[in-house]
Amino acid sequence: MSFDVERIRKEFPVLDQEIHGKPLAFLDSAASSQKPRAVIDAISALYSRDYANIHRGVYELSQRATRAFEASREKTRRFIGAAEAKEIVFVRGTTEAINLVAQSFGRENVGEGDEILITHMEHHSNIVPWQMLCREKGAVLRVAPIDDRGALDMEAFASLLSDRTRIVAVSHVSNALGTVNPVEEIVRLSHERGVPVLLDGAQAVPHQRVDVAALDCDFYAFSSHKLFGPSGIGVLYGKKELLEAMPPWQGGGEMILSVTFEDTVYNEIPHKFEAGTPDIGGVVGFGAALDWVEEVGYDAIHAHEQELLEYGTEALLSVPGVRIIGTAPGKAAVLSFVMDDAHPHDIGTILDGEGVAVRTGHHCAQPVMARFGVPATARASLAVYNNQRDLDALVRGLHKVREVLT
Ligand code: ALA
Repeated sequence: MSFDVERIRKEFPVLDQEIHGKPLAFLDSAASSQKPRAVIDAISALYSRDYANIHRGVYELSQRATRAFEASREKTRRFIGAAEAKEIVFVRGTTEAINLVAQSFGRENVGEGDEILITHMEHHSNIVPWQMLCREKGAVLRVAPIDDRGALDMEAFASLLSDRTRIVAVSHVSNALGTVNPVEEIVRLSHERGVPVLLDGAQAVPHQRVDVAALDCDFYAFSSHKLFGPSGIGVLYGKKELLEAMPPWQGGGEMILSVTFEDTVYNEIPHKFEAGTPDIGGVVGFGAALDWVEEVGYDAIHAHEQELLEYGTEALLSVPGVRIIGTAPGKAAVLSFVMDDAHPHDIGTILDGEGVAVRTGHHCAQPVMARFGVPATARASLAVYNNQRDLDALVRGLHKVREVLT
């Protein structure tokens, strides 16, 4: 059966509305995706019938909530091909997952003069936690360069791996450029030197299947809210041996087996890293989002997005003065661009008046902006529910920007 985007759109109630009197064209899914009815209903069902705190009550409601919560962990395991459910730690999002690794694994394994290797295209959340660790430990942050298309310079990356490298932390897909990094090669080169690899998968999982076993990465971080699930929930996958050896990073309830004033025995993984009552509804909604993605299927998602990306690229370049930032081959469905004589924030405001939602600014990736010599870009990012009408509205809006500003 051919892909029916209109059927998909009907599952997203938010898309069916006018903004400033124009049909909404939502083109900011890289910042956060919209939610299908199945996710909204799953959260509502939990709070309507099955809600109580988890892992603590012997009574029926607590058992039901615990089962729903743990079912999401098992779905996540299957979704990313992890060997065991205990390798899935629920956190608040990608940012928290990376901070957890930096603060727990990093503090144990990185010392003075050691090196942490990242790339020039990282989101701030995969720069700052490592910078903080380097400052604390007297370690050095190394940065692999990117070329003018926004592709990683793999020769330089390989040469920056050294005997002092203690961890490599790289985005799977760049949020600002859409570049898809050769993560298999990155893992292979790093492992040859015995260096573990963390992949920031926040922008990868909405677009392509991820198999952590095939990738053989040591840590994989991603967020629910970019994958059609609720915000405030994310996943840290870690290899069992690594997670077991790592100290907890936050103390509290749930992460302990026993506590006296003299000593505390920590819980098993993953609970050791899940102090406090989690976002139970969020995790349950996330499980529904995973089911939804499986039902649509990554083949369909990828094919549809790539078709739109091609259409959108051509359409954007037909607007005089538009330049696309990030042109690496095989990139994901992200269109960052600048326009002669128009500041991205003005572009965003004029587009909003036309019902078109794009993100403008530095996209939490200021070093990328510096690399391309621009203070900011406008970014249209696509998801499976977008259609050609959304991109036509973008292009019409950009012609309006030209009329008004240039
Ligand atoms: N990291 C998200 C983005 O790229 C918020 O917009």
